[in-house]
Amino acid sequence: MLDAPIAATPHAAIQRGDYLPPDWLVPEIALDVTLDPARTHVRARLTVRRNGTHNRPLRLDGDGLNAFAVTIDGEELHDAWRMDGPALVIDLAGDDHLIETEVEIAPSLNSALMGLYESGGILCTQCEAEGFRRITFFPDRPDVLSRYTVRMEADKARYPVLLANGDAMDAGDLPAGRHYALWRDPFPKPCYLFAMVAGDLVANHGIFTTRSGRDIALGIWVRPEDLAKTDHAMQSLKASMAWDERVYGREYDLAIFNIVAVSDFNFGAMENKGLNIFNSRYVLADADTATDADFDAVAGVIAHEYFHNWSGNRVTCRDWFQLSLKEGFTVFRDQQFSADQGSAAVKRIEDVRALRAAQFPEDAGPLAHPIRPEAYIEISNFYTATIYNKGAEVIRMLRALLGADGFRAGTDLYFERHDGHAATCEDFIVAMEDATGADLAQFRLWYSQAGTPRVTAALDYDAPGGRARLTLTQTVPPTPGQPDKAPMPIPLKVALLGERSGQSIHAEQLVTLDAEVGEVLFDGLTERPVLSINRGFSAPIMLDSDRSAADLAFLSAHDDDPFARYEAMQQLMLQSLVGGVATGTIDHAPVIDAVRRTLTDPTLDAAFIAEAVLLPSEAMIGDQLGAVDPDAIHHVREALRVDLGRTLDHAWRDAYARTHANRYDYTPLAKGMRRLRTVALGFIAASGADDAARLAFDQFAQADNMTDRQGALGVLANGTAPERERALADFYARYRDDPLVIDKWFSAQALSTRADTATQVAALSRHPDFTIANPNRMRALIGAFAVNQRAFHDLAGGGYAFVADMILAVDRRNPQTAARLVPALGRWRRFEPARSAAMRAELERIIATPGLSKDVCEQVSKSLG
Ligand code: TRP
Ligand code: ZN
Repeated sequence: MLDAPIAATPHAAIQRGDYLPPDWLVPEIALDVTLDPARTHVRARLTVRRNGTHNRPLRLDGDGLNAFAVTIDGEELHDAWRMDGPALVIDLAGDDHLIETEVEIAPSLNSALMGLYESGGILCTQCEAEGFRRITFFPDRPDVLSRYTVRMEADKARYPVLLANGDAMDAGDLPAGRHYALWRDPFPKPCYLFAMVAGDLVANHGIFTTRSGRDIALGIWVRPEDLAKTDHAMQSLKASMAWDERVYGREYDLAIFNIVAVSDFNFGAMENKGLNIFNSRYVLADADTATDADFDAVAGVIAHEYFHNWSGNRVTCRDWFQLSLKEGFTVFRDQQFSADQGSAAVKRIEDVRALRAAQFPEDAGPLAHPIRPEAYIEISNFYTATIYNKGAEVIRMLRALLGADGFRAGTDLYFERHDGHAATCEDFIVAMEDATGADLAQFRLWYSQAGTPRVTAALDYDAPGGRARLTLTQTVPPTPGQPDKAPMPIPLKVALLGERSGQSIHAEQLVTLDAEVGEVLFDGLTERPVLSINRGFSAPIMLDSDRSAADLAFLSAHDDDPFARYEAMQQLMLQSLVGGVATGTIDHAPVIDAVRRTLTDPTLDAAFIAEAVLLPSEAMIGDQLGAVDPDAIHHVREALRVDLGRTLDHAWRDAYARTHANRYDYTPLAKGMRRLRTVALGFIAASGADDAARLAFDQFAQADNMTDRQGALGVLANGTAPERERALADFYARYRDDPLVIDKWFSAQALSTRADTATQVAALSRHPDFTIANPNRMRALIGAFAVNQRAFHDLAGGGYAFVADMILAVDRRNPQTAARLVPALGRWRRFEPARSAAMRAELERIIATPGLSKDVCEQVSKSLG
């Protein structure tokens, strides 16, 4: 596929089945790093040991490195080593040697943000997945575990703080205003967990006492002006540490745990041993600059990276095909943690919404892959919603099948058995089997088969007999390279509600559909049952049920599982909207009635109401359709929004008023009120009411927190009232020096539903504050635009060419950031012919461009293939 004639450079694919253990191990490494942005000197001393009996040379990966000195056991043996492309190859007799290499690198020129780079005057590293080879020559693979000693030296005025993994052993001043620090990490680790930071940083210091009574020194390191925004991160860290002890029995191991925030970062954060490095957006938060969603994301990412200390670091991955071993499991753990901090139901709704927005389209498109892929060209392209979010769903299903206690027994065994080792997904499954006696042979299909299973459910009621029969079927759709699929075990939580009583008439039961067809019988029924199925979203599937609009409306009012209740409303809305797009006519009444009932139900909390009354996104509606026409979807959805706004005007205003006097407070209750407030404001604005812009502007101007302010700005950004420009200007003026908030300013405009958004985004890309060098800013403007269905797919707006130009421009500096934009164009097959052809043409233009990165080349070729 990649050696098609148009592709300039074919890149080789790595196959999972080709795994071989490392030829050489590196039990010890000592690094001596003299830091300087333009010329950093790295001296590495590797103790290497032959692994097994063979006569293969030592091969050390490098990426852009020039070896200017290599010694073997202290001697410069010029004939013993050679460069093989970017790698250093050394012929060695005997089994144990000391290899020393020296290289020079230039962090200030490193725009890819992999390896050692500079961000806002801070020198920092990112090594996962293959960044360590940009720092020094090393067998850069996760199954080579080493003990690290790191000596850092730098100018003291410019870099007063020097951090690395593990324990601080020594530090001191040197002549000429320089200083050094010596760090040693006693835990053997793969090189992707190596980290080093130098900068003018200050810390929020804390102490956590573990359950065995050890005091851990916690530090959250930021630029001095950001210190006031670190309290929430510190609280989240302490809560995570306590939670992992309580729920998984996992205690922290080192005496120090540091987190550093940097502004330029390709991902959310990185779990380097004892020295997590974070994108500043997941550390910094205060009420004036961060929304409730931002606070939640900080807590979730802090927890995620902290949890990796066990699921990822103490037990790491054998090879990168096992990535979901650490990521799926750790996402599941952070989801559980966040659910425990607030409303579990709302958290589940958010997680499923994210899965459907990011993972379902991936599974249905040209980049579909199983959670354990079979082949990759560039591993960075596999840090996907499938590996992370579907991976977490697979772990969640295991827990549902084995029960909470069985699952915990399985994780205990897994951690005990594989501590200090590099493991595989298979090892995890085997630990679950050994701990519980379960047979997970068929369950393994969740690791090997891509594609979202489609399940049908039909319930037949035999009223005289008081019986009902539930018939289930499954199909797993073909995906690239996997034309035929076997049936998977699909755990479905099922219950029945009585249509007359509105009560549960058959308690929740776990039904596992493990064949193409399955049947469940219920008896003793005294009224017509209504089916509640896939409760809690127990399986990551698409469900087609034979439930009528009336049944869905009934469930949206009565289901005792909050997720299923939300889901019934979503399905009711979706049925109606999809029908509307297909037939051009739509009866709004059932949706309006159901929304009215939810909105005015005094037993429901505000957070749940806010989630339940939101219409499915335009993208999600498109996912149900054959050939997507984003205009048609937009107009049908907008018409329903307007009607909901008008018909329920009183109810929205009432909801708005009752959430008004909400004092700022970061509690689930107050958060829910704020959420409902802005959701209600959105519907009031949709109704076209004369006072909507004034209401929104008042909320904007009077807000004492970013949630209300950004919420109002988002509503105004969709409209044409003069208040829109005023609010945007005020917001910009107030926050011009805070890049994370200016990101919101860009996003509010890029996400606007206005007809001229594509033009506005193109203009914003020429704004002095826009830069392709910063991944957050790229995501804020270009990433947001690419998910805005109406604007991106506006044929007159030139959005496809604009995004393609961005991909090409960014690819030269930062391939990972460029590659992340490809899937938006890669979905071309899903669209109506004119758009489909235009999207495809841009992909062809990209692939014909010389000098593409492996990252972009792989994604574009697969999208065309
Ligand atoms: N392991 C990190 C996480 O999920 C992911 C990550 C951080 C990453 N930085 C990266 C992946 C850079 C690829 C490239 O927590
Ligand atoms: Zn992770």
